[in-house]
Amino acid sequence: MTFPKIIVTGGLGYIGSHTCVELIHSGYEVIIADNLSNADISVLDGIHSITGIKPRFIQVDLSDSDSTLTFFNGFKDIAGIIHFAAFKAVGKSVQFPLKYYKNNVGSMINIVYNMLELGISNLIFSSSCTVYGQPDQLPVSESSPIQAAWSPYGNTKQICEEILNDVCSSQNRFNGIALRYFNPIGAHESALIGELPLGTPNNLMPFITQTAIGLRSELKVFGSDYNTPDGTAIRDYLHVVDLAKAHVTALERLLKKENTSNNEFYNLGTGKGSSVLEVIQSFEKTSGTSLNYVMAERRPGDVEAVYADTTKAKEILGWETELSLDDMTRSAWKWEQALKARS
Ligand code: WQD
Repeated sequence: MTFPKIIVTGGLGYIGSHTCVELIHSGYEVIIADNLSNADISVLDGIHSITGIKPRFIQVDLSDSDSTLTFFNGFKDIAGIIHFAAFKAVGKSVQFPLKYYKNNVGSMINIVYNMLELGISNLIFSSSCTVYGQPDQLPVSESSPIQAAWSPYGNTKQICEEILNDVCSSQNRFNGIALRYFNPIGAHESALIGELPLGTPNNLMPFITQTAIGLRSELKVFGSDYNTPDGTAIRDYLHVVDLAKAHVTALERLLKKENTSNNEFYNLGTGKGSSVLEVIQSFEKTSGTSLNYVMAERRPGDVEAVYADTTKAKEILGWETELSLDDMTRSAWKWEQALKARS
């Protein structure tokens, strides 16, 4: 029996690798395309150890049109594509905007172009809650206004959503779902895959675990004077495994032709906001460690509070998160300890 083939771009990255695990568990044949710019080839062994299956991996720069054409010509009968491959560091995007536009937007154009040429009609696109900026109302629903992006990174996500929207409007047989992630954290329970930030982490969770394990001297809490209950900024953190499962659910919605429009989009969050201090408190509880942190100035470009209205994902997509903030911080700590044991 042949299993539906799914191409996962960026499949060795943080969310991509967790999604590959869930796809394989669900019986799909996974083909990974990754340029290894922000991922390590060892992640392939992690996926193999967890699932017993080593997916095909092709190193390819999808922002290069010739390389992308060659890559796609190597495959037949692709049922769908899940597109993660993109640069995602907000600060770096401000420093190097053209690099972000070429990579993030260029890859999207090359992928969609080849899909149309080859008649591959199902695309799941990795988008982000950054498209909402600082929302006027909370929780943020899919009908909340898209605001001017706060960074070139956020703008590339908005532009790619617009490309998807325009292609779906012009090609009624092409189906796209954009998934707007809130803040994914945590790691697979096996501690065989997880977040692998290159260099100094930008995001909160890896900075917490690296501080706790002794790689960093202290965590700076960026801002303690926000208009929030404890003064620290609020985000909607969700477990990366819950997020990975949402991609399988969205893909199957298209494969089973259950989509009511050929261009859908969903917020993926828990619907609950947690402050930086609440994440720290959860981490200290689940790790049994006392974290060395100090209050610091706000980080430029940060929004005060954002969390998802999860109604559409729950009632239409049929997905909701199952894992708690403690599950997230516990798994993140187990993964950091596993990384130390390997080094
Ligand atoms: C979370 C909170 C920081 C580090 C980013 C991307 C977004 C999405 C999720 C891809 C904020 C605070 C952080 C630190 C801190 N990624 N913080 N000390 O900025 O909400 O969103 O990741 O789609 O696109 O922008 O996540 O983890 O960087 O910050 O106090 O050392 O933690 O100020 O309030 P963010 P983050």
